[in-house]
Amino acid sequence: MANVILVGAQWGDEGKGKIIDVLTEQSEIVVRTQGGNNAGHTVFVGKDKYVLHLIPSGILRKDKVCVIGNGVVLDPVGLVKELDGLAKLGVTVTPDNLQISETAHVVFPWHRELDGARESRKGKDRIGTTKRGIGPTYGDKAARVGFRVIDLIHRERFPVRLQERLAENNEVIKALGGTPLDYDAILAEYTAAADRLRPFVTNTVVYLHEATRRGANILFEGAQGTFLDIDHGTYPYVTSSNTTAGGASTGSGVPPNRMDKVVGVMKAYTTRVGEGPLPTENAEISDLLHGMGREFGATTGRARRCGWFDAVATRHAAMVNGIDELAITNVDGLDSVKTIQVCVAYEVDGRRLKHLPSDCEILAACVPVYESFPGWQTPTDHITRWEDLPVNCRHYLLSIAQMTGARLTITSVGPAREQTMFL
Ligand code: GDP
Ligand code: IMO
Ligand code: MG
Repeated sequence: MANVILVGAQWGDEGKGKIIDVLTEQSEIVVRTQGGNNAGHTVFVGKDKYVLHLIPSGILRKDKVCVIGNGVVLDPVGLVKELDGLAKLGVTVTPDNLQISETAHVVFPWHRELDGARESRKGKDRIGTTKRGIGPTYGDKAARVGFRVIDLIHRERFPVRLQERLAENNEVIKALGGTPLDYDAILAEYTAAADRLRPFVTNTVVYLHEATRRGANILFEGAQGTFLDIDHGTYPYVTSSNTTAGGASTGSGVPPNRMDKVVGVMKAYTTRVGEGPLPTENAEISDLLHGMGREFGATTGRARRCGWFDAVATRHAAMVNGIDELAITNVDGLDSVKTIQVCVAYEVDGRRLKHLPSDCEILAACVPVYESFPGWQTPTDHITRWEDLPVNCRHYLLSIAQMTGARLTITSVGPAREQTMFL
């Protein structure tokens, strides 16, 4: 299958976890390269449901190696909990099938405190973060005061640096009206987590380079989505990493000229969890999907905001990611809709825009221009062959793929592995 980068082409939660699980069959190694446990990737194996936050979704397949790359921000206590959760579900994770980059950055309790405190102070202008400390951890990385995994597992260096960093961060927490954090408690918790994780820690850059040289198939598992990208998203309503295809290289150390293909995952409609503009947001489709018990966040449980498919946005996503192939998921979510709308342009101040404006305030003021498609109004979740999908459904999917500007290769009509069709 060669080296494949998989990205979310919308605002996250496109069904990346499910598609990664399916594509892992043809890969040897699955790598997470950015983000942290703000991600929630859902995979069903039979009736068993798994939600992966930091560990790549490839972990559920035997004999695959998963890598947490250098671009990830890692909450060690959260990761140990995730390992324990998988063990309870019968998934064995050992240093043979999980490797952690020694240069990934570490999330601390003060990052979570600051994430929450900044959100509260912003009031109505809040980003709606997952409060997992992601932004402050990447902030420390960029400010060159972060801890890397090698610092976490270093027995002598860790306690000393912890004291230094905690002292400064407690000053900030106090200034923001919070309660200072306790050194001994953090030391005990983080030392215990470091002891658990030490055997998994390695130089993943060298490992991936050697794997590339021997021709291994590597799958790069994107987290979040294009419009949550720190550079290309709806700033400031974004996450703090590069969720677009370039992040796969910087976050793993595998250079761009070793990448073979970019697969974009998108839903047949649009969702977003958290604040920020969502031009096609629509109460009718939100109510429909929530009424079916769908579109509640895998990490925070929040109801996702829902809207019609936005082809202006996905065309932009195809551009910045270089998407070659598309996987469209949650097609069955539209099964009962009589007339489906697709946003083909935006209108603002009497002008028609074919591209996403960079200014979030302008994007928020954009009114979608819709093209209507006849629905298929019949269940699709039992269908296993593309040819058997209703003709209106195939027409809709091929149309939105064409508007996006990439080739449709995978269609998904349900959360299970079997509910996947290859074109
Ligand atoms: P991710 O973050 O991109 O991995 O996506 P999430 O797991 O957060 O959210 C996607 C949700 O859609 C999960 O509950 C999946 O089980 C579910 N899902 C994925 N593909 C399909 C599909 O084709 N149909 C249905 N009904 N559910 C799907
Ligand atoms: P997966 O990988 C959807 C959103 C948050 C918030 C913004 C910033 O499951 O698709 P952060 O905690 O990262 O600082 O929050 O980004 N967000 C996601 N939305 N899916 C995700 O991950 C997300 N990870 C972060 O809701 O709007
Ligand atoms: Mg998710």
